[in-house]
Amino acid sequence: MSLIEVKNLKVHYPIRGGFFNRVVDEVKAVDGVSFSIDEGETVGLVGESGSGKSTTGKAIIGLEEVTSGSILYKGKDVVKKSHRRSMKYDEAVQMIFQDSMSSLNPRKRVEDIIAEPLRNFGNLSKDEEKLRVLQLLDIVGLDADALYKYPHQFSGGQRQRIGVARAVATDPKLIIADEPVSALDLSVQAQVLNFMKKIQREFNISYLFISHDLGVVRHMCDKIAIMNRGRIVEFGTRDDIYDNPQHIYTKRLLAAIPETNVNNREAHRKERLKIEAEYQNNQSAYYDADGMALPLVQISDTHFAALPEDGGQTNGEVNG
Ligand SMILES: Nc1ncnc2c1ncn2[C@@H]1O[C@H](COP(=O)(O)OP(=O)(O)O)[C@@H](O)[C@H]1O
Ligand SMILES: [Mg+2]
Repeated sequence: MSLIEVKNLKVHYPIRGGFFNRVVDEVKAVDGVSFSIDEGETVGLVGESGSGKSTTGKAIIGLEEVTSGSILYKGKDVVKKSHRRSMKYDEAVQMIFQDSMSSLNPRKRVEDIIAEPLRNFGNLSKDEEKLRVLQLLDIVGLDADALYKYPHQFSGGQRQRIGVARAVATDPKLIIADEPVSALDLSVQAQVLNFMKKIQREFNISYLFISHDLGVVRHMCDKIAIMNRGRIVEFGTRDDIYDNPQHIYTKRLLAAIPETNVNNREAHRKERLKIEAEYQNNQSAYYDADGMALPLVQISDTHFAALPEDGGQTNGEVNG
């Protein structure tokens, strides 16, 4: 059984307007998303800004209301409040955010920030709590003198460590990491990713790793879901996605990763232009009349893509 199984998840936001402020339309931020995460596994959720990644993450942790579909945690649907409680779901699933400057309370000291989830869920004495916070600081590689400082006294990378320490405090099974390194310098990104991996191994944590950048998730993820306009357009193992991409949107995201090897730059540029031309000529074949992704078809045991029946080889009708 998977740790988490998301089934046909939909999150639609109402749009209100007019004189009576009635619901006039809706944004289909997430529109029929399914995937699962196994214990100790990292699944990447990748797509451009606005594709519905954060909404998916927030729906899983319960910060966003689910319009329809189910979220199974160890087989129990935690969209149901009673299951959430009986499964201790709120302790088991934690989230870290891109912008630690705004997600960490600036008026609280690090000790209180990290202790907060312990106070919510635990029943520790003051001494035990302090010991646990020190232990957590150690796990994320921060010194004990961090206890009495405030978030603004740290660098961005250090603040992400504090966010991770807080997320790990309740011994979670799953951490939803929403663009955790996107605001950091490249060199610092690698450090944060490395200690996230180390913590994963140590505590057997699963990650849902959200990013707009396929370059970043490459070394983090076992499996990757490519999200586009509220739907998953491709799902597979890391090798499926990087070595054998099928959907034009995935190919475009891959082509957007900067080539670091100077000798390959020209070849990379040509490839990118080729994919851009294919996208311009053929993209309508990959979407339905409403511009939404097609249903996923199975390509191998592990690999799925939202492909047209002819595999996108011919020109589709131009929409609208
Ligand atoms: N509270 C909200 N009300 C209305 N629309 C929203 C709300 N939150 C997000 N959206 C819309 O839902 C879509 C998906 O947003 P989001 O999940 O934040 O995407 P991503 O994280 O991939 O950038 C976007 O079109 C966004 O504008
Ligand atoms: Mg987002």
